[in-house]
Amino acid sequence: MSNRLNTTPNDLRAFWMPFTANRQFKQNPRMMVAAKDMHFSAADGRQVLDGTAGLWCVNAGHCRPLITEAIRQQVGELDYAPAFQMGHPKAFELANRLIDIAPDNMANVLFTNSGSESVETALKVALAYHRVKGDGSRTRLIGRERGYHGVNFGGISVGGIVANRKMFGTLLTGVDHMPHTHLPEQNAFTRGEPEHGGDLADELQRIVTLHDPSTIAAVIVEPVAGSTGVLVPPKGYLKRLREICTQHGILLIFDEVITGYGRLGSAFASQHFDVKPDIIVTAKGLTNGVIPMGAVFVTQEIHDAFMQGPEHMIEFFHGYTYSGNPIACAAALGTLETYKQEGLFERAAELAPYWEDALHSLKGEPHVIDIRNIGLVGAIELQGVAGEPTKRAFACFVRAWEKGCLIRTTGDIIALSPPLIISKSQIDELIDCVRTVLNEVA
Ligand SMILES: Cc1ncc(COP(=O)(O)O)c(C=O)c1O
Repeated sequence: MSNRLNTTPNDLRAFWMPFTANRQFKQNPRMMVAAKDMHFSAADGRQVLDGTAGLWCVNAGHCRPLITEAIRQQVGELDYAPAFQMGHPKAFELANRLIDIAPDNMANVLFTNSGSESVETALKVALAYHRVKGDGSRTRLIGRERGYHGVNFGGISVGGIVANRKMFGTLLTGVDHMPHTHLPEQNAFTRGEPEHGGDLADELQRIVTLHDPSTIAAVIVEPVAGSTGVLVPPKGYLKRLREICTQHGILLIFDEVITGYGRLGSAFASQHFDVKPDIIVTAKGLTNGVIPMGAVFVTQEIHDAFMQGPEHMIEFFHGYTYSGNPIACAAALGTLETYKQEGLFERAAELAPYWEDALHSLKGEPHVIDIRNIGLVGAIELQGVAGEPTKRAFACFVRAWEKGCLIRTTGDIIALSPPLIISKSQIDELIDCVRTVLNEVA
């Protein structure tokens, strides 16, 4: 046997890091070695306040006891069970607990291992649903400019983030995009849902008319667009999308990978906005980010449409080796229990006004051209350095890390989404840190 493994130096070269400026990172690494509640411990021993719930996922804070204990127990009891043609009790228990907190039109859950896989699953369910109903000409998928739906081919096809799409050829065919809803001239510094832009939903009607409704399978949107820099839906926008989809027999998919599990102060954004989609895509906060897992919710009608043909036959040819993995299920059950026992969704709703005031206190600081917020999410949009997009926000990110706060940037936008356990004084600390770095960067 080769002993090459033992001779490769333990340096930073081998790991090609995801969505990372690899060369910059490896010159000056930002390493985390531990985490508890609201803080990371950096490799140099500093405590770093988590202003982003990791990557929008650690909604209950870090290393929470119910979750770690659930995983510990499960791994010693049933480590893995085949996902196809076999079951284990926790997958069923979790599906039921999820339906308990989902919008009341949701009846069934499919498990995945990430947001990207949840998106692919939802798109495939939508296409197959129309086909099993004998409506197989509905093959088009409609997304939105600036949408983020993960990194797999379906997701980047319906997504609208140019850097994520441009390298990868023609993508899925038959996809169209609605315009995004970012209207800074009219809506800058809006608190919560903007007044202007609800009529942009009518662009869906234009697209539907262009292609004919009989060709369209589904529309997918993030209720609040997150990764593009937090775009809160204009008043009436989501309701109008729902109306148009219902009118034309088109499925409406909400990608709630970021908004799911309490971020807006309710279990799902769908409940917050009182708009019921046909499919809900989730991941991240499902397991508090601790174990990779996603869940896709569908209505009874969608599920039942597949339940036909001989009973020994597989009804839907889709699934993953790790769909409903026992350890992931245990982590998710521990997470849901933590949310419930600590009332974290309600806590997010209660903190939202304080969060809003704190964020908007940054108005007037250097470079700030817009501030947006909803629930426990916020964005501070900066004027970019002329000719060097993303540079200013990235400088803020690096400085904030050095000062002991984890923030996130996308383009020239700072996006904040702390764990729902954040205290008011920690909100102040986070916002003060952002204020300081805004005043320091060129
Ligand atoms: C709305 C949305 N959909 C999908 C994804 C992809 O999730 P994952 O990175 O788990 O594949 C993300 C990730 O940020 C997201 O924000």
